[in-house]
Amino acid sequence: MSTSKRPAPAAGSVPVRSGLGEARDAASPLVPAAPSDRSVGLSGGGSDRPAGRRSEGAAERPTVRLREAPVPQPPAGPPRYAPEWLRLREPADAAARAHDLIEPLRAGLARLKGRADGLVVHDLGCGTGSMGRWLAPLLDGPQHWVLHDRDPYLLHFAAAVAAPRAAADGSRVTVETRRGDLARLTPDALTGAALVTASALLDVLTAAEVGRLAAACTAAGCPALLTLSVAGRVGLTPAHPLDAEITEAFNDHQRRTGMLGPDAVTTAAEAFAGHGATVRAHSSPWRLGPGEGELTAQWLRGWVGAAVEQRPELRERAGRYLDERLAACAAGELRVIVHHTDLLALCRPTGGTS
Ligand SMILES: C[S@@+](CC[C@H](N)C(=O)[O-])C[C@H]1O[C@@H](n2cnc3c(N)ncnc32)[C@H](O)[C@@H]1O
Repeated sequence: MSTSKRPAPAAGSVPVRSGLGEARDAASPLVPAAPSDRSVGLSGGGSDRPAGRRSEGAAERPTVRLREAPVPQPPAGPPRYAPEWLRLREPADAAARAHDLIEPLRAGLARLKGRADGLVVHDLGCGTGSMGRWLAPLLDGPQHWVLHDRDPYLLHFAAAVAAPRAAADGSRVTVETRRGDLARLTPDALTGAALVTASALLDVLTAAEVGRLAAACTAAGCPALLTLSVAGRVGLTPAHPLDAEITEAFNDHQRRTGMLGPDAVTTAAEAFAGHGATVRAHSSPWRLGPGEGELTAQWLRGWVGAAVEQRPELRERAGRYLDERLAACAAGELRVIVHHTDLLALCRPTGGTS
């Protein structure tokens, strides 16, 4: 995994920054040139997002410390996620994922026809590929993972550095990468898919993008396992009077440019159900304690920073709040539950899977 020193951006709904402030993952001159990967089915071009949308919640604003003047930033591009942040959250993600959905998923896969050559799995918004590293060893039989993302830097890690190699029964797992924007997802992009997955993605999509995703999965007639969407609820122990206000401001921040944020699960469930899919939801919370201090501290900075960006009047109080919370975290006295939801959508098989 990377040891890159580029400014740490955010992931999921949470920026990774030192200090409290705006969180943006600006394109960094330290990001290496794009490795070669092919672009099939997903366009790398424009999108139908709301005008002026540049952000992914807290994820893509260059952070400035609250009490400092803003520093010049490179032109804003699509949101970027630091591999360091994705690495930091991967163990918590793995612990949080809803294992109870695996059996129904296996049953759904078993109902598909034409699996003799193995499963073709499309992982959307794959980042560095943590979903495949978690799921591939839980499924039997040969698998070919098609990893989609718009960030070539992350795709490079996903393919070259830490791709899953073996299935539960020891069968071979192979991967390929496809660079493109999910805003342009077309049904033919998923032709032949036996399974579509996504992790920490739905909440940074728009309703239109989620609708397109549901339509494409339905056309492919395959299950979709869509994990770790933020639920908009957090629990901090010990409690603090400002917890609720910061939670609310953060949730508003997530929604402000048309992204679904905490509405993602409901929107996705309705979209899939509207196409006739059977949808199951299961909670998948991060449970962060003294053993996850680094992740907790990064999450706190991003969470509070986004809240302040949304409601600047919180700045002074939130600054003190963050200092207190970071001190408690460093002392091993803070526990945080960040609620997420996993969705399994079992679409009606079309008989056209690989
Ligand atoms: C929070 S990260 C999650 C990465 C990975 N799934 C994981 O769980 O570690 C969100 C990922 O979705 C990708 N992404 C977000 N919006 C996208 C879009 N419209 N098209 C393609 N990729 C997108 C980002 O580049 C990033 O890699």
